[in-house]
Amino acid sequence: MNHDSISSTSARGTVRTLSQQEELPLLRDHLLRLDRTSRHDRFHGFIDDSFIRRYAERCANDGTVIIAYFEDGVVRGAAELHPPEQSPDAQPEIAFSVERSARRKGVGSTLFRKLIAEAHAKGYTGLRITTGAQNDAMRALATKFGAQLTFRHGESTGSIDLTEQRQSEPAPAIVPVTPVAAARALVDMNRAYWRMVMQMSGWGRAA
Ligand SMILES: CC(C)(COP(=O)(O)OP(=O)(O)OC[C@H]1O[C@@H](n2cnc3c(N)ncnc32)[C@H](O)[C@@H]1OP(=O)(O)O)[C@@H](O)C(=O)NCCC(=O)NCCS
Repeated sequence: MNHDSISSTSARGTVRTLSQQEELPLLRDHLLRLDRTSRHDRFHGFIDDSFIRRYAERCANDGTVIIAYFEDGVVRGAAELHPPEQSPDAQPEIAFSVERSARRKGVGSTLFRKLIAEAHAKGYTGLRITTGAQNDAMRALATKFGAQLTFRHGESTGSIDLTEQRQSEPAPAIVPVTPVAAARALVDMNRAYWRMVMQMSGWGRAA
């Protein structure tokens, strides 16, 4: 299994993709360790344990790719690449979470870079991210990787166009943090992620 240390940052852990079924508990426990504010930011207001358990289970069964940051065998950060089939316009949704103790050390950036490499490998041409309008950390992270976020009704949404990034040069697993300069942001106001979260919470269509 490929473990990449993130020596170019001040974090001391390693990054690798989780195996979907077997390592579900690692993702679930990481998400459950998020404090109340972080859960609110990550899940757009949904913060209860049962929701998070169901969410992690769904990720294990629907083809979501989870790239995890480990410290001492414990997942302290995760990037999620949700399959495009979940989205009405077939654009894969992405999401990030880093536990408070591991933040501001480049972990989110490393996970983002790995996720873009994974998306390229799958042949995806774009990614969508949705976050709260007040979420400065996620906005900074998304902007760094080429997303231009547009705000509406307390949320911000942006799409990252992967077709304009250099395809010939495989993204290294870990490199010093630089912006994805060629990534052009396409503003795409939609509420697909909200729909998924609403489904998870039992609202609207069945999850
Ligand atoms: C968003 C989050 C994943 C960022 O993780 P992180 O490991 O701290 O990110 P990094 O250390 O790689 O920082 C990425 C960039 O964002 C900036 N940043 C991080 N936190 C910030 C904050 N609170 N305010 C402003 N900028 C911030 C960093 O300075 C860095 O920019 P730089 O490299 O140009 O200096 C993390 O804060 C988190 O998990 N938040 C709770 C969950 C959440 O909100 N998820 C988003 C919903 S999808």
